[in-house]
Amino acid sequence: MAIKNIQTSHLVHDLKNPVNIIETGARALLEKQDRYGALDPKQEKVIMRMLRSALKIKTLVHNMLEVDMASQGITKTTQCTLADILRGALMEVFDVVDPAAAEALEEASDLESFRRVLEANSVFIDATIEDLNQAIRTDQTKVCLILTNLLSNAFKYRETSVHVRCSVNADSINVSVRDDGPGIPETYHKQIFDQYFQCVPADGFPVRGHGLGLAGALALTEALGGHLSLCRGEHGAEFLVEIACGPEQ
Ligand SMILES: Nc1ncnc2c1ncn2[C@@H]1O[C@H](COP(=O)(O)OP(=O)(O)OP(=O)(O)O)[C@@H](O)[C@H]1O
Ligand SMILES: [Mg+2]
Repeated sequence: MAIKNIQTSHLVHDLKNPVNIIETGARALLEKQDRYGALDPKQEKVIMRMLRSALKIKTLVHNMLEVDMASQGITKTTQCTLADILRGALMEVFDVVDPAAAEALEEASDLESFRRVLEANSVFIDATIEDLNQAIRTDQTKVCLILTNLLSNAFKYRETSVHVRCSVNADSINVSVRDDGPGIPETYHKQIFDQYFQCVPADGFPVRGHGLGLAGALALTEALGGHLSLCRGEHGAEFLVEIACGPEQ
């Protein structure tokens, strides 16, 4: 591995301690007011915002290390379900785009109520309950990150709705994420997974982000021996991810 890569991942790794200290401190102030002093509602709000930001940085650090591990072919397989993975990815995206909906999703304890909250927010899951609940073996964190990136794009570019279709086959999982936005013109299809690539925005569609999400999602998919492709570009974009998964053990 190049020295530059070692330094970058170690610097990212070393962010963990200071972030943990901010998190622990903010939690202590919120949860141990008898010891550290009572907070008025305004102070409590500020500290809660700090805590949320610390948790966000913690997730980002975690994700950066996860992508770095994937680039070196390191994966961690655990037992999970498609429902676990989808829940994690959708929570992550809703946390950013609509925190109120994220809270409603958090409270949805079973699959049916989870689906209802999603539908109320124009996100439709096309999958059988059996497939969603089937135990599979895969690298849950990495698959969740891949879907978070696809979903975050779908939310960014959708007109009104997002459709997720998924299934579990004998030895693989298939998930497609489709939106009803402007789509991706054919001229860009070859570059769409390049680092820092962003389509020239059509009128009314400002470029947001860095053009890194899809490149990261592809690197993670390939580390898992899977395939990620743009299966439809016009009249809304649709991405398909196919990843091998071992059977329940
Ligand atoms: N669902 C989509 N609909 C329309 N265009 C898309 C869609 N997904 C990706 N794109 C185009 O592909 C480009 C690259 O996507 P990518 O996720 O890599 O970067 P980004 O979303 O711009 O930024 P980042 O993910 O780094 O925050 C986007 O800038 C956009 O032009
Ligand atoms: Mg993106």
